[in-house]
Parts: sequence; structure tokens; C-alpha cells
Amino acid sequence: MSNIESILTETRIFEPTEKVKNSVAITEAVLAEMHKKASEDHVGFWSDLAKEKLEWSKPFTVGLDDSKAPHYEWFTDGEINVSYNCIDRHLETKSDKAAIIFEGDLGDVQTYTYKELHDQVCRFANTLTAQGVEKGDRVIIYMPMIPQAVIAMQACARIGAIHSVVFGGFSAEALRDRIENANAKLVITTNGSRRGGKTIPLKGAVDAALEKGCDHVKKVIVYRRTDDEVEMKEGRDIDWMDAEAGMSNYHEPVPVNAEHPLFLLYTSGSTGTPKGVQHSTGGYLLNAHLTNEWMFDLNDNDVFWCTADVGWITGHTYVAYGPLSVGATMLMFEGVPTYPDAGRFWQVCQDHGVTVFYTAPTAIRALMKFGADLPEKYDLSKLRLLGTVGEPINPEAWMWYHEVIGRGECPIIDTWWQTETGAHMIAPFPITPLKPGSCTKPLPGIEAAILDEEGNELGLGEGGLLVIKKPWPSMIRNVWGDEERYKSTYFPLQDVPYYVVGDSAYQDKDGYFWILGRVDDVLNVSGHRLGTMEIESALVSHEKVAEAAIVGRPHDIKGEAVSAFVVLNVDIPNGDERTALVAELREHVAKEIGPIAKPDDIRFGTNLPKTRSGKIMRRLLRTIAKGEEITQDTSTLEDPSILEQFQQQK
Ligand code: PRX
Repeated sequence: MSNIESILTETRIFEPTEKVKNSVAITEAVLAEMHKKASEDHVGFWSDLAKEKLEWSKPFTVGLDDSKAPHYEWFTDGEINVSYNCIDRHLETKSDKAAIIFEGDLGDVQTYTYKELHDQVCRFANTLTAQGVEKGDRVIIYMPMIPQAVIAMQACARIGAIHSVVFGGFSAEALRDRIENANAKLVITTNGSRRGGKTIPLKGAVDAALEKGCDHVKKVIVYRRTDDEVEMKEGRDIDWMDAEAGMSNYHEPVPVNAEHPLFLLYTSGSTGTPKGVQHSTGGYLLNAHLTNEWMFDLNDNDVFWCTADVGWITGHTYVAYGPLSVGATMLMFEGVPTYPDAGRFWQVCQDHGVTVFYTAPTAIRALMKFGADLPEKYDLSKLRLLGTVGEPINPEAWMWYHEVIGRGECPIIDTWWQTETGAHMIAPFPITPLKPGSCTKPLPGIEAAILDEEGNELGLGEGGLLVIKKPWPSMIRNVWGDEERYKSTYFPLQDVPYYVVGDSAYQDKDGYFWILGRVDDVLNVSGHRLGTMEIESALVSHEKVAEAAIVGRPHDIKGEAVSAFVVLNVDIPNGDERTALVAELREHVAKEIGPIAKPDDIRFGTNLPKTRSGKIMRRLLRTIAKGEEITQDTSTLEDPSILEQFQQQK
């Protein structure tokens, strides 16, 4: 818990300005009332909000059903349609209001009003139905950040199909694993994407993924995003535009049970293959809706921009669903923050009058390096709230974001949550006094605590395991097809049914939470979760690799870098041959998983540092990766000379 030292030195508190206090919907009094109600009647609190904020096709009478714990079900006898709640219910009052403002990589802009979005989603819902997709079928969406990705997700929700969005940066191999695990019927993709002034092919990965097996995939719908040629497989592949031709712009939303899975999203764990995190419909939508209101205070004058890709949970809750459920205008951006230069984010904020901006600490740190001159060239005066997500934000980046981007006036909404939690869990409201680096306090209805290794609850000032003590509506429902993994990963404690987060945290004397990092073998690279196991298996699948261990080391911009320790089944090469092998192994990992997982450094040894019982001593590897002196006890090592081999390599 050495990070506690550095946290203790952070004593600054930023109170909300009068302007913020007087303008936001959730005032201190309203918040206090919500906390009171939630603590007195946990289920009633959530149930009342579900009735007030969402439109149900069939009202529910059961709030929480915990009879199958640790599977918790919310609003179980209710029926609802997410697409109806995100689009149709706004048509009477907001049909001409912009739902999505899209800016492409090259600066092309396209706006979809709520009415236009409705027509598109309906047309595509009819298309999916015409292609044989039915309620409960799984659909893979492998697309770049373009409105058609949201249209596809909403169309699935409209017909009750379960989507699983696979990040466009994942490789064919990673895509295949997910298609197979989900047993998907249809894949939606594009011929390519546009990023940083270039076009990048995408469909080839789908073809490669479907080459072997995957017979359950009957159709592939291809949207043409670029002018590049694309190979279409006769009988299987259909052009989006052709498939959609003649489809009606009305589709009656299919009401589904509140517990019907809305989507699966694969995420890394400490062991095994990625887990298909299964989310519900009613409970998920409730927290998606509420947190867009609570944390971002979205109202009719806002233009909300969340920079996350739809391939991650943030792109689900704060792009595809939440902002639309509250009837807001949101911006979608296809490109990268550094093209044509590192002022692009600020240019987009200025040109579209963005008022609420939500990004990751890694992006802030990367843009900080370019100095304050670039953002100062743009008019950012419309910004009123700034959010961050994905990893702890270091106080230096927090201050830069607050002062340079937020003119010292915009609250920094540091939101702690996970793929599994569905929505924000520990985060400030705009009126919460802020401490740089702390995600502040749990939301009303969320009961967080910190436990020691024996499972005892710790008091203020002590670091330990973060847990959530009571179920909440948008929590994970299952690991797709793997009940045991769901239970053992998230509810491993013997005596208490607490949801175990996998992060360590510390609560300061004011009850503020400070997230210290992961406790398992999961790395956080640029705000993305990568299992060390997955990267290790990718390396070991290379013909020259016998064994591999992956550890994280601190990295200025990415948060964590990937360090690989590799044992070869050939002699360790030197000079150019060695450089070539390092490059080959990095490419191999990119091919197996995706470029985000490429090791930043690779060291070779004749063995890994293991105890006599064969356990790899990862803490020693972490020390070596950081370039630090080894001060830990190495007496249990089978062969201490291994350490020197690795230490000699930078
Ligand atoms: O370790 C925490 C970190 O990211 C993990 C969740 O990763 P993922 O499921 O990919 O979702 C990322 C987007 C929600 C958490 O277990 N994390 C996320 N947000 C924060 C954070 N750590 C500190 N502060 C945050 N605001």
C-alpha cells in the first residue's frame, strides 16, 4: 500500500463555484435527500427511480429478487424496450433536436436529429429481422466510431437481439474467440475505418475470423465507410445499403423482460480467456440514465462528448445508451486526438460548442505534453463539466485539465466504475468538493467498503480490497456461459455476499475513496484492461517461445506499460537477430490480441525466477521491469542467477 504515502500528501480541496451550485439540477439538499432515502430503503430507492425515469411497456411489481444470489435480478416482472426509451419517447418534444453530431476523421460533419435517428434505427431493425435475426440471438458489432455503430446497437436493442461490440482494434484471432464464445448469428462491420488521415481495412479481420469454424454466423453486413474495395463472400456478405433498401422507417419496438440480456461485452480477467460480461436491460438502462443526469447534469442546452470507443463499456453507457435515454445531444468523433495536430480535441470542442467533455487520463497526459498553447488557441468557454475515467488520474494531470482546459471553473468528474458495474459507482456530483486524484464518494444506493485480507471491514485511513456490499440495478448478471467463473471472480468471499471489485483502495479521513490499482494480474494500459495471462498465452503460441511472464510497470502516458520476460526454446539471439525477434514477438501479440497488447519491452532469460515449488515470483519481475534494485528476499528462488540475466537487459 505504498501509494497511500503519496495520496496523503494531496490536501487540496476544490469547492464548487457559485455558478455551478446555482445551475445544476442536483443540489446539495437533493443529494442529501437521495442518500437518506437510499440508506433507509435500498430497493425502494432504486425502484422509485426506475418508475420515474424509464418508460415500461409492462410495469414491474418486484424491485429486487435475490432468491438466486449471487445472481441478483431487478424489476423482474417488468417489460421494457431500451431503444424506445432512448429514441421514441423523445419524439414528441425533441424530434428535430440533434441526437448525434458526428465529426469524421477528415472533418466531415453529419447530424442526426432524434427523428432521423429513429428512422435509421427502425430501418436497420427491419433489416436485421429480414436477415433472420430474432430476439435473443447474438450479433457481433465490429465497427469504428461512426453513427452506424450506435444505430446497429440500438437496432439490436429494438428487436431484443443481444449485441456484443468488439473493439475495432482487436485482431482477427481475438474477434474469432468472441464470435465463438457468443455463438453469434450475424456480424456487422465496415469495409474499413478512417483514422489520422489514413484508411484502415477492417473487413479482412472478419473474413479471417470466420475462416475456420463459426458456422453459426450466417450473415455479415458490411457498411462502406471508405472508398476502398472490399471482398464480399457470395451468399454470406451483404452491403448495408443494399440490405436496407426498401425497408420501412418504422419498426415496433419489441418489449423484453427487464432481465433480458441487452448486451455482452468481453473484458479481461486475471485467468483464462476474456469474460463475456452479461448485462441486463432494465437495470442497466436505469443506471446509464441516472449517471448521465447525476454526474454530467445533462440538459437540453448541452452538447456532450465522451471520447470513448463503442468497443468499451464507456462507449456503451456514455455514447450508445445513456445520453440518448436522457434526450441529450451527443458528439461522436471518428478520429484521433493528434490529427491533424494535437489540438484536434479542442478544435472539436470549440466547433460544436461542447459543454460536457469526458475522456481518459491517458489522453489528458498525452495532450499535456504539447503544452497549454494548443488548447489556448481554441474557444473552450462553453465547457462546464469535465470528466475522466479508466484509471486513477494523477494530481498533475488533474490540475492541468482543471486549469488549462477548464479555466479553473469546471468541476473534474473523476468516475470510478468497471465493465461489470455498467455505470458510475464512485464519483462526484458537480457540487461535490473535489480532491485531485480521488473519485470522491459512492453514489446514493451504492454501498462501498474496504476489507482487509481476512475480509474484515477497515476503517478510514486503511487501504485494502474494495467491495460493493449491496446489489445495484446495472450490475453484471453473469459471465456468458460460465456461471462458476461469475461466482468465483466476483463473489469469492465465504461469509458475505459482497461484490469484489478487484481493485485496492483507501478511504481518507473525510471518507473520500482513492483507488490504488488492481489487486489481480490485470494491467491497466491507457485505461484498458489487459489480462497478463492473455498476453502470456499469445507469446507462448509463438513457435520460439517456451514460457513467458508479463508484468506492468509505470508509464508516463499510458499509466502502465507491458513488460515481457520470455524463455525461448532456441538459443537467445544477439545483435540484429535479437532486435528482429523482439519485433516479431511484438507483432505476434498484435496479431493474436491487438496492437494495444504489444509488449513495450521484452527481456530473454534461460528460465523465469521461480520458487522451489515452481511459482513465478512476479514481484521480482516488477522490480526489474521498473529498473529498480532488488531489495526483496530472494532466498526462496530456485536459481537466483536468473535475475542477473534479466537485469542486464534494459
Ligand atoms: O482499476 C479500475 C480502473 O479500471 C478498471 C475497470 O476497467 P474497465 O472494466 O475496462 O472499465 C474502464 C471504464 C469504466 C477498474 O477496476 N478504473 C476505472 N475508472 C477509474 C479507475 N481507477 C481509478 N479511477 C477511476 N476513475
